Amino acid sequence: MVGEISSGFSDCDVRRTYQVVVAATRDMGIGKDGKLPWRLPSDLKFFKELTLTTSDPWKKNAVVMGRRTWESIPPEYRPLPGRLNVVLTRSGSSDVGTGENLVSCRSFPAALQLLAKAPYCLSVETVFVIGGGQLLREALNAQGCEAIHITEIGTSIDCDTFIPAIDFSCFQPWYSSAPLVENNIPFSFVTYARVRNSATASLTINGEMKSNGSSNSDNFDIKKFDFLPKMIFERHDEYKYLRLVQEIISSGTQKDDRANTSSLSIFGCQLRFNLHKSFPLLTTKIMIQHTGTLSG
Ligand SMILES: NC(=O)c1ccc[n+]([C@@H]2O[C@H](COP(=O)([O-])OP(=O)(O)OC[C@H]3O[C@@H](n4cnc5c(N)ncnc54)[C@H](OP(=O)(O)O)[C@@H]3O)[C@@H](O)[C@H]2O)c1
Repeated sequence: MVGEISSGFSDCDVRRTYQVVVAATRDMGIGKDGKLPWRLPSDLKFFKELTLTTSDPWKKNAVVMGRRTWESIPPEYRPLPGRLNVVLTRSGSSDVGTGENLVSCRSFPAALQLLAKAPYCLSVETVFVIGGGQLLREALNAQGCEAIHITEIGTSIDCDTFIPAIDFSCFQPWYSSAPLVENNIPFSFVTYARVRNSATASLTINGEMKSNGSSNSDNFDIKKFDFLPKMIFERHDEYKYLRLVQEIISSGTQKDDRANTSSLSIFGCQLRFNLHKSFPLLTTKIMIQHTGTLSG
């Protein structure tokens, strides 16, 4: 699916939507002295898997980055293989170079417009904006951003490059991993999906904007989020539940009882939910939360 947003409806201003991938500390620090101020191999692995994987084997993803982030990648690893690398620079004299998997653009809107046109609208599946700070200050909460995949580092680390806080009036958690620790650094992988275009608008997908207060404004339709990469889409709590139901149906042990009803069961399965970000209510019909505290 090619996501597009249009501002002003002129043909030449059609822009690709995009998703942000970033790792940030509690204070939203992302870098220090032009480098990553931590060593988290599983974060690099997650980044690689997320940005490389496509549902359509004939397509690739694009990674859009600022010139300094490009320069922070060791020359032997750039352009990042298997992805279209789009480097932003305002300076005509920057030595970014060109190549099969490499293009440079003078502005972020120009990059999104380029990616909305042939051949890229046909060959690029998902556009990921990967940093650094200057680019993310423009891109993180902007309307074209449909999801934020953030490695939340649960501590403060000395940084000199920061990004803004996520606008939680527009983004809601889709998935949150269990808390992890590597090299003594606590972190978790979290994806926030856009549910509103602005604090005053309701759910919007494919440019469909409903006015605030419309009766079905908060209806949650999981299918509307199929712009998320499959590996993220299927991590939603609802899917964990559905996979367990599927497993019970396909490989449960049948037991008959005296009332002539039979049941299927399997033992030893667990569903674990991270209640820090959300509460898994989707599988229930109506749940009225009375005053009180949910703990977990
Ligand atoms: N934690 C993470 O996930 C993560 C991810 C990426 C990077 N980082 C870190 O972030 C730091 C780099 O970030 P940064 O803020 O210094 O630099 P940056 O955003 O990577 O690059 C800034 C440069 O990119 C160009 N640029 C940025 N926005 C542009 C725009 N809208 N239009 C045209 N050109 C644009 C300009 O290049 P010209 O000067 O050539 O015009 C600008 O000077 C490093 O420490 C890096 O390790 C962290």
